[in-house]
Amino acid sequence: MLIEGQDLSVAIGGRPVLEGETISCEPGMMTALVGPSGCGKTTLLHCLGLLLPVDQGRILNGGKDVTKYSTEARRRFWRDHAAFILQDYGIMEEESVAFNVTMGVSLLGKRVTGNQERLMEVLEQTGLQGREKEMASHLSGGEKQRLALARAIYKDASVLFIDEPTASLDAANRRKVIELFSDFAMRGSTVIVATHDSEMINACDVLHEVGS
Ligand SMILES: Nc1ncnc2c1ncn2[C@@H]1O[C@H](COP(=O)(O)OP(=O)(O)O)[C@@H](O)[C@H]1O
Ligand SMILES: [Mg+2]
Repeated sequence: MLIEGQDLSVAIGGRPVLEGETISCEPGMMTALVGPSGCGKTTLLHCLGLLLPVDQGRILNGGKDVTKYSTEARRRFWRDHAAFILQDYGIMEEESVAFNVTMGVSLLGKRVTGNQERLMEVLEQTGLQGREKEMASHLSGGEKQRLALARAIYKDASVLFIDEPTASLDAANRRKVIELFSDFAMRGSTVIVATHDSEMINACDVLHEVGS
């Protein structure tokens, strides 16, 4: 899905954070939001993901103006199309790894519903095989990162919003998640990643300097 921001302005606490930001994020591409700390990378990512309202400008999804989406329409976008890998993870700590991936559990008997075969496949891909019954709160930072990614792969999201994914990872894990993000873009999804990690930036197809 083509994700566009046109002439976006956002002020937080009366201070302008984004001023006339214009960006186009193409499907099949990994777009990096770059720039010094505090320049507005996270803010722009949140606006494009419809997590934060803009004061001015337009957000378009596949050419359609979604700036004024209702709460219900935004929820549908998040449920059906988007996946987020944010710094506070969006992980449900008190639920199992399996539930966090499939987001489905039958009320009777705590059985995780959804496609078990696919669940096993994505856990394998993200190096979380054998961990499905564990409580998410028991995972390390890097593992939670991979859990969020497993959920994105499982739901086959058409847009992936990622904030500083490699910040808490060691070199091996960093390489692994960068590779998984690239695979995601290669399969035709739109990948947008706020980052200041040069390895992550090098893997991106397009660089967007925020605030310049
Ligand atoms: N919730 C908030 N309350 C107050 N200031 C904020 C908030 N979120 C962001 N800011 C400010 O907006 C600016 C941009 O922040 P951010 O988008 O997080 O930058 P980056 O991700 O590039 O480091 C910073 O100056 C930050 O202090
Ligand atoms: Mg940030």
